[in-house]
Amino acid sequence: MLGKLPHRSLHQLAKKYGPIMSMRLGSVPAIVVSSPQAAELFLKTHDLLFASRPMLQASLYMSYGNKGVAFSEYGPYWRSVRKLCTLQLLSASKIEYFAPMRREEVGLLVDSLKKAAAAREVVDISLAVGDLIQNMTCRMIFGEAKNSEFDLKPLAKEVLNLAGAFNIADYVPFLGAFDLQNFRGMILNFTYLHTGIDKTYGYKRKLEVISPLLLPRNCMEETIIDGYHIPKNTRIIVNAWAIGRDPNAWSDNAEEFLPERFADTSIDLRGHDFQLLPFGSGRRGCPGMQLGLTITRFVLAQLVHCFNWELPDGVLPNELDMSEIFGLSVPRANHLVAVPKYRLRV
Ligand code: HEM
Repeated sequence: MLGKLPHRSLHQLAKKYGPIMSMRLGSVPAIVVSSPQAAELFLKTHDLLFASRPMLQASLYMSYGNKGVAFSEYGPYWRSVRKLCTLQLLSASKIEYFAPMRREEVGLLVDSLKKAAAAREVVDISLAVGDLIQNMTCRMIFGEAKNSEFDLKPLAKEVLNLAGAFNIADYVPFLGAFDLQNFRGMILNFTYLHTGIDKTYGYKRKLEVISPLLLPRNCMEETIIDGYHIPKNTRIIVNAWAIGRDPNAWSDNAEEFLPERFADTSIDLRGHDFQLLPFGSGRRGCPGMQLGLTITRFVLAQLVHCFNWELPDGVLPNELDMSEIFGLSVPRANHLVAVPKYRLRV
């Protein structure tokens, strides 16, 4: 019933039933949060109560029995791996350390786009940016742009697909044994890091910047919040996509693409203002935010500073295919293609 784009279906339901909806997903009680005020209640005021994650089959198999920081339950183990990530891997000094690498990789992309511009070629931006992110990621992890043992892109795509997928076994546990979606098969294929993956799923992806539903939280104790009785182990789903379209927060044109709406405001996207939550908020908010923002801003700034972009074959901006697919993020369903025109004199 939630269809292929659950964030939109849940948004429609929230318009009818309100910003805090209680529902059953299979046999699992769930609460769907769809307004900035409600998000603040769950992610800030009562953050500690909802700082755990539900046990999902994908993370059980993919991260060695829930040992990955993103899916592990709240407690001493999570605190220690999270600390390791923030202090050792994703710290400001580590991000700064990789600045020359980022300049070099983006420089290579700009050079290749310059050639495409001279030849008036159409460029697949999704592919080009996907390759760039892969190269940067590999250089940060392995110290080299291409690693013969790992093809990171299909792996990253699979992780996002499997972690974001609606897996029946997580919601109707007794059906888990039948593996109706071949989910276990896919996860196991993945886990044994499988050469067939390339053929089956191997593809390109780009960095996605919008998370439709933040990773689900888990209610740790039975509690009553603002008159709502919330049983233990209720799944809390914060629909960041719907929150970004809340008419009270964004006025009537909440659904329109109007970047200028941010011009005269101090709205922050780091999780302090709850009407915009690309990185979540609270204890389980994204620890990679600074790295993500640094890369996204740098790449985007270079692409618009160095080039003017035109759509190919006379396509008008309002005809651009903006269809999306659902996963842990909402990527474009089809690649973005455009023709670059170099605009600098250097
Ligand atoms: C623009 C890029 C990014 C976006 C939009 C993004 C978004 C998010 C969101 C929405 C969450 C869930 C927060 C919540 O449940 O409240 C999250 C969690 C997380 N992100 Fe990111 N992220 C980005 C980049 C990164 C990077 C570069 C890394 C690491 C290299 C990273 C690592 C993580 C981890 C480990 C968690 C789980 C944290 C926990 O459960 O304690 N993210 N991210």
